Amino acid sequence: MEKVTIVGLGYIGLPTAIICAQSGYKVSGFDIDQDKINKINKAISPILETGITEKLKKIIKSGNLKASNNINKANIFLVAVPTPFIIKNKKNNNLNKIKQVDLSYVFNAAKEISKVLEKNNLVILESTVSVGATEKFAKILEKHSGLKLSKDFYVAHCPERVLPGKIFEELTNNNRVIGGICPKASELAKKFYSKFVMGNILITDAKTAEMTKLIENSYRDVNIAFANQVAAMANSAGINPYKLIDLANMHPRVNILTPGCGVGGHCIAVDPWFLVSSFPKDSLLLKTARDINDKKPEIIIKNILKLSKTFYKKNKVIPKILSLGLTFKPDIDDLRESPALKISKKLNLQKKKLKLSVFEPNINKIILDNLDFKNFNNLREAINWADIILILVSHDIFFELKNINLKDKIIIDESGLIYRMYKN
Ligand SMILES: NC(=O)c1ccc[n+]([C@@H]2O[C@H](COP(=O)([O-])OP(=O)(O)OC[C@H]3O[C@@H](n4cnc5c(N)ncnc54)[C@H](O)[C@@H]3O)[C@@H](O)[C@H]2O)c1
Repeated sequence: MEKVTIVGLGYIGLPTAIICAQSGYKVSGFDIDQDKINKINKAISPILETGITEKLKKIIKSGNLKASNNINKANIFLVAVPTPFIIKNKKNNNLNKIKQVDLSYVFNAAKEISKVLEKNNLVILESTVSVGATEKFAKILEKHSGLKLSKDFYVAHCPERVLPGKIFEELTNNNRVIGGICPKASELAKKFYSKFVMGNILITDAKTAEMTKLIENSYRDVNIAFANQVAAMANSAGINPYKLIDLANMHPRVNILTPGCGVGGHCIAVDPWFLVSSFPKDSLLLKTARDINDKKPEIIIKNILKLSKTFYKKNKVIPKILSLGLTFKPDIDDLRESPALKISKKLNLQKKKLKLSVFEPNINKIILDNLDFKNFNNLREAINWADIILILVSHDIFFELKNINLKDKIIIDESGLIYRMYKN
């Protein structure tokens, strides 16, 4: 049985570890978070993902997956550690800051792997990285292990493109791009993925694979920015933006995305910066899209404060506002870079102007309490309490609003949920 060590057991690493174990690999999961390790070994998933609980239970019981805070020897290492951005001052200009990739987690992972790296091992970097980072990662492995790159051991980059909420389905069905540091690395990585990937496995070099992932997410960001600008223009013209976009999308070659309250998560809101910082002159559109999407929460906050003022003038009481949804997209439990969270946090500070409560069924009450939110665990109760309902994320469960009396409520829908609810 081939042994695989997965480094980083988060949203990507844990489902991948489960799939590998299901496909016949003996898997060891390595993480620096002891709480996560304990949970996984007790078959409790530290993340919310469709189907993960049953799969994790089965695989832990089988003995083919074990999590540890010690890195174990393996034939194949797969790295899925975070790659956030850091804000740095531009050289000679302290006022001009740029966001660039933080590769420290990736490089630390390389140092850990070097301790146990052996001849003929394959190391796959799945974390999203800037162009050229896989080569640097490989050089760290070489330096710290004393082994020769592409002779004694092999390195490939294989970016992950899964959609949270559909991770298991997409881990199996998506096409994958593999960029080896050398052709043998690509060939070995292809053999590894072939055991569980049903989609096409496409071979290229490491730099091209890195850039493929970055342009995919930048493409999404630019298209979301376009949708957000369409919504802004439509709102100024007194037109329903969701209806407008639906009509435009009837064109056979037009597919405008749904406007929202901003862009969040670990990927689309982050990865374009890796291109903008590396290629500042040729990434003007990407930078503009980032700015448009980053500014959306501020625009919503401003509008809500204006509405609160009008409400107060009319009713002589400050309004009770209910934020529906806090996660960065529907039906997940991930708050990273979430614009809905940012909006709700900022509104929550405006205690003299409004009373804020939240309803977020995918986030544990203790976390919501710690974030200092008054929160409800029942949608009807939450709606009863509110004067203004601010829909930020269109979780499936919010379609229940159709069966709740919303008369006398002011509804601000930043997700398109109400339009979709009554569309047909
Ligand atoms: N989440 C997604 O939907 C998604 C999709 C595509 C690509 N990605 C990329 O995949 C990578 C991982 O993302 P994620 O969402 O799984 O992150 P995550 O934060 O959920 O998980 C990362 C894990 O790595 C662990 N870790 C950090 N440093 C470590 C080290 N030196 N050794 C061992 N473990 C370490 C952390 O404790 C954590 O459990 C990122 O580069 C991200 O951009 C994520």
